[in-house]
Amino acid sequence: MTEPAKRAAGRAAATLVQDGMLVGLGSGSTMRHAITALAHRVHSEGLRIVGIPTSTETEALALTHGITVAEPDATPVDLVMDGADEIETGTLRLVKGFGGALLREKIVAQSGRRFVVVADASKLVARLGQRGRLPVEVDRFGQAASARRIAELGGAPALRCDADGTPFETDGGHFILDCMGFGLIRDPFTLDRQLRAIAGVIETGLFLLPVEQVLIGTDDGTVRVL
Ligand code: 5RP
Repeated sequence: MTEPAKRAAGRAAATLVQDGMLVGLGSGSTMRHAITALAHRVHSEGLRIVGIPTSTETEALALTHGITVAEPDATPVDLVMDGADEIETGTLRLVKGFGGALLREKIVAQSGRRFVVVADASKLVARLGQRGRLPVEVDRFGQAASARRIAELGGAPALRCDADGTPFETDGGHFILDCMGFGLIRDPFTLDRQLRAIAGVIETGLFLLPVEQVLIGTDDGTVRVL
């Protein structure tokens, strides 16, 4: 994914925001462009918005840009924008969580009246699972037991680790199991249900909620809307 394509998608998402909105701010490199573009509008147009960040990293970026932030508790979020790791072209179902922010991203996405995805064409897949990895967030307690249960489902889970070999920790203090064994996911609803039936599973990277539009940026700066 090249920066011009990410920037084009991020800028297009920023144009959807209107004065007074509560805006869910997703995580990842494409969303960084959206937040930068949004901050530009806040300052140049006097747009009054409140951002609902989906990660501590996004929160820090929004605050750096002078965007007011809040949690999604008080009221429905008007518009949620976020990146994705896979977008199934026929259904607009998603895999998310390669960046590790899936739990907060899903909480915010479910709080939104509208959900818009920003990406470039490398994220488009004919079938979920094509990139070979499904992130699953699990409680630290009994994570090996949770991994065994996921392995029984064919998930071939691997504990995500930082460069120094220590387990990657999410903003919520949980671990991530990257599941490499599910192959192409023909029935994501059933897989999601099976995974969430495991007590240690906090959330899966399957985002099966309605997506209003997907903004696909390209290197020449144009944007395709799915
Ligand atoms: C993080 C995510 C991100 O939205 C996803 O990884 C996309 O990131 P990028 O725009 O950097 O490709 O799901 O948990």
